[in-house]
Amino acid sequence: MRLHDILIGVLVSCTFSASSQSLPDVSGDNDIHAISRKRAQAVKEAFEFAWHGYHTFAFPNDELLPVNNSYSNSRNGWGATAVDALSTAILMESQDVVTTILEYIPTIDFNVSKGNAPVSLFETTIRYLGGMLSGVDLLDGPYQHLTQSPNDTIALTLQAVNLASKMEFAFDTPTGIPANNLDFKKESFDLSQSTGLAVAGSLDLEWTRLSDLVQVPDFANLTQDAEQYLLYPKYESNTIQPYPGLRGTNIDLSTGEFLDVMGGWGSGDDSYYEYLIKMFVYDPVNFSAYKDEWLKAIHSSASTEIFSHPYSRPDLTFLSNWDAQNAILRSSHLACFAGGNWILGGLVLGNQTLIDLGQNLTESCISTYNATLTGIGPEAWKWEDENLFEDEDEVVDMFIEDKGFNITDPSYDLRPEVLESLYYAYRATGDSKYQDLSWKAFRAINASCRTGSGFSAITNVNAPHGGSFTNFQESFMFAETFKYAWLIQAEDSKVHVGKMGEEQTWVFNTEGHPFKVRNQQ
Ligand SMILES: *[C@@H]1O[C@H](CO)[C@@H](O)[C@H](O)[C@H]1NC(C)=O
Ligand SMILES: *[C@@H]1O[C@H](CO)[C@@H](O)[C@H](O)[C@H]1NC(C)=O
Ligand SMILES: *[C@@H]1O[C@H](CO)[C@@H](O)[C@H](O)[C@H]1NC(C)=O
Ligand SMILES: *[C@@H]1O[C@H](CO)[C@@H](O)[C@H](O)[C@H]1NC(C)=O
Ligand SMILES: *[C@@H]1O[C@H](CO)[C@@H](O)[C@H](O)[C@H]1NC(C)=O
Ligand SMILES: *[C@@H]1O[C@H](CO)[C@@H](O)[C@H](O)[C@H]1NC(C)=O
Ligand SMILES: *[C@@H]1O[C@H](CO)[C@@H](O)[C@H](O)[C@H]1NC(C)=O
Ligand SMILES: *[C@@H]1O[C@H](CO)[C@@H](O)[C@H](O)[C@H]1NC(C)=O
Ligand SMILES: *[C@@H]1O[C@H](CO)[C@@H](O)[C@H](O)[C@H]1NC(C)=O
Ligand SMILES: *[C@@H]1O[C@H](CO)[C@@H](O)[C@H](O)[C@H]1NC(C)=O
Repeated sequence: MRLHDILIGVLVSCTFSASSQSLPDVSGDNDIHAISRKRAQAVKEAFEFAWHGYHTFAFPNDELLPVNNSYSNSRNGWGATAVDALSTAILMESQDVVTTILEYIPTIDFNVSKGNAPVSLFETTIRYLGGMLSGVDLLDGPYQHLTQSPNDTIALTLQAVNLASKMEFAFDTPTGIPANNLDFKKESFDLSQSTGLAVAGSLDLEWTRLSDLVQVPDFANLTQDAEQYLLYPKYESNTIQPYPGLRGTNIDLSTGEFLDVMGGWGSGDDSYYEYLIKMFVYDPVNFSAYKDEWLKAIHSSASTEIFSHPYSRPDLTFLSNWDAQNAILRSSHLACFAGGNWILGGLVLGNQTLIDLGQNLTESCISTYNATLTGIGPEAWKWEDENLFEDEDEVVDMFIEDKGFNITDPSYDLRPEVLESLYYAYRATGDSKYQDLSWKAFRAINASCRTGSGFSAITNVNAPHGGSFTNFQESFMFAETFKYAWLIQAEDSKVHVGKMGEEQTWVFNTEGHPFKVRNQQ
């Protein structure tokens, strides 16, 4: 089928509640590779369909409002979707999309932020800086054939330097721990605001990669100095701290002290833990102290009541939040990256137990997809622990009895974490059930979130048609959700996570942008 015709057909017919039946049923096919190739092609078509809608109605603004074909600039107006889509378009070898984005990026003026919203150091680093650096690594590496000239990656590198240089003032605090909410006009921030663990703890991969590419140590140095406060945390005296390796969430910019002892594997904390092992993947010699802290965090999470089995479904495992050393039995879609992250650690450390644990976390997360009417997992849920719960007086709730958890936020924001963990589980095991689960989840997303021009977040995964559309399409749909749905089916990709015993040559930032690891040319 010709892509152009498919796009026109879909745009004209404005299919709001998509049927997934129109795709050939390939489940009877014996050739597993032929099946996964067809699936990869279908994910690529969905990506190009969404790109076309964005390009038609929103480019070069940050994102498409996919219900009324309007646009918004929630990421300071530098074209977030375009920059976030680059690495996925490269991997899929969507030449036209790549060319359009490469022509656009050099025209961005990062000195000027659109609108009055502050610039988020964290979001700007993972989406914009990460997207451009990944473009450099991929196009100077195995995807050189997608560029017209070496000038393309020089321009990307220059823009990465412009952006990071402009953001450097964030680190100008008494401790060197960066502020997150930046006023680009005045080059200032509010020192009394605290910074989150995930903010300060997930910059080092991007800023270190930039330093290595341009041979200027300053960028790496800034983030690594700040990281010391996270690796070796300080709390007010006499507070009961979280278990070893685990952390509170908010950090005082003036003292470097943690202001609380509440944490978890989800929002506000997540990518600090994620990057501890990814920095080790990036360079196992220089970042071995990061790996040591990661192992402590894993041990404390796996051997305490944070590693929790729901009373009605003890076969499932969710990682709970914590307040000091007490488990808070809540988790979220965001926290579902953990399964894949533990598997990655197991692969690079040669530890099969970590892979098994990560598989269990991943399978529990995909069970939240299986539990709902749409086949998509919710934003957040809670449960009762098998050891802590006394159920005598409890009203029986059939959903909880059956599924093991109760939905606390039923929305779906086009998030990638479950597809991401399925990808790692597939790489580690080669078990095609993970490809099947990923494909099923992707088809469910396609069926409930697709609009006439793209994909929208939905309000209720457990209502017919997903409740209603929120009319928002996050740029990370392009960077991550499409990418992981595609990669798990795309056997030939050149950037795969290495299997057990294989070298890791690429590492993905928290936005799904692959970087070359250090000393790999
Ligand atoms: C997604 O939905 C469209 C529109 O209904 C359909 O044509 C396409 O085959 C679907 N793709 C997948 C992967 O389900
Ligand atoms: C599109 O919808 C959004 C709300 O989701 C609204 O703010 C905006 O004004 C609408 N744009 C147009 C052009 O109708
Ligand atoms: C952005 O600001 C920097 C530093 O003030 C300056 O060197 C650069 O030329 C500016 N870039 C643009 C596109 O105005
Ligand atoms: C690359 O940029 C240089 C300097 O701007 C220019 O002289 C050269 O023609 C460009 N090369 C190509 C292939 O565009
Ligand atoms: C960063 O630079 C400062 C000053 O040159 C130095 O004291 C510090 O050790 C460096 N940090 C790292 C992580 O290299
Ligand atoms: C990495 O560690 C080695 C050995 O300690 C050291 O020689 C080298 O300078 C470090 N490189 C960087 C970029 O920090
Ligand atoms: C593998 O990881 C598990 C879980 O943290 C740990 O208990 C075990 O000692 C590790 N095994 C090896 C060989 O390091
Ligand atoms: C994973 O879950 C299965 C099923 O509940 C269990 O038998 C197995 O021991 C678990 N593995 C680990 C490493 O916890
Ligand atoms: C959940 O899994 C079961 C068993 O594989 C299947 O029969 C059922 O259709 C699934 N439900 C959803 C919503 O995917
Ligand atoms: C489970 O969630 C539903 C819907 O949000 C709510 O009505 C119900 O009370 C909850 N049940 C429990 C036991 O919390």
